[in-house]
Amino acid sequence: MKEFEDKRLPVRTKDGSLSLFSERYSQHYHSIHGARQESLHVFIANGLVMFEYLAEISILEIGMGTGLNILVTLESTSIQKKVNYLSLEKYPLSEPEWTSILPSFQTEQFQRIHRAKWNSTIELQKNFLFEKQQIDFLDYRSEPKHHLIYFDAFSPEAQPELWSTLMFETLNKCMLPGGLLVTYCAKGEVRRNMLAAGFKVEKRPGPPGKREMLAAWKM
Ligand SMILES: C[S@@+](CC[C@H](N)C(=O)[O-])C[C@H]1O[C@@H](n2cnc3c(N)ncnc32)[C@H](O)[C@@H]1O
Repeated sequence: MKEFEDKRLPVRTKDGSLSLFSERYSQHYHSIHGARQESLHVFIANGLVMFEYLAEISILEIGMGTGLNILVTLESTSIQKKVNYLSLEKYPLSEPEWTSILPSFQTEQFQRIHRAKWNSTIELQKNFLFEKQQIDFLDYRSEPKHHLIYFDAFSPEAQPELWSTLMFETLNKCMLPGGLLVTYCAKGEVRRNMLAAGFKVEKRPGPPGKREMLAAWKM
């Protein structure tokens, strides 16, 4: 697989929102049943909402991609709440790629996210701090500081190394006790790897077009 030979092509999903298709991984960035719907269901309704009681939250996103999860988080957070949002991405989109899906997004914030400098923090809105790091997921380490992880890698079929027990153990160490990792995937092997990494795992109803998803709590 040649790293530099990817093309990310725009696709319209069933709820009308735009997403991308990666030729290298032969994967869509979101569910073709509805990109925005999936993001709202998996990461907001089953993730962010669980922490409504916190005045300050630290979110780690595994896979920045188009920036859709950042935008739906922005829309779903009150400016009273302090958000520290860190997004990891190894293969950033080129400007022609992200502009190909621009019509689907709130333009100003979308452009700020994509034009932001790597490894530096910007305030996307009052109390919402955003940083993106260009890094391989496998190399990310931190002290236990994240309340919530949006685990949004390509599927285990495309990238099995990212859904391993080792990966989940590493992420578990980056989370605070009571922290939550959510993902659109509900595969049995992934669930077993999360359990082996020490998480308490729940199956939840999935977004339209998917029966189930997973929510993994750090004990
Ligand atoms: C499913 S997409 C993420 C979708 C994204 N959350 C969004 O809202 O558009 C998976 C992302 O992981 C990135 N990726 C794949 N392998 C990676 C790796 N080893 N380290 C870091 N990023 C990786 C891809 O470039 C892609 O942007």
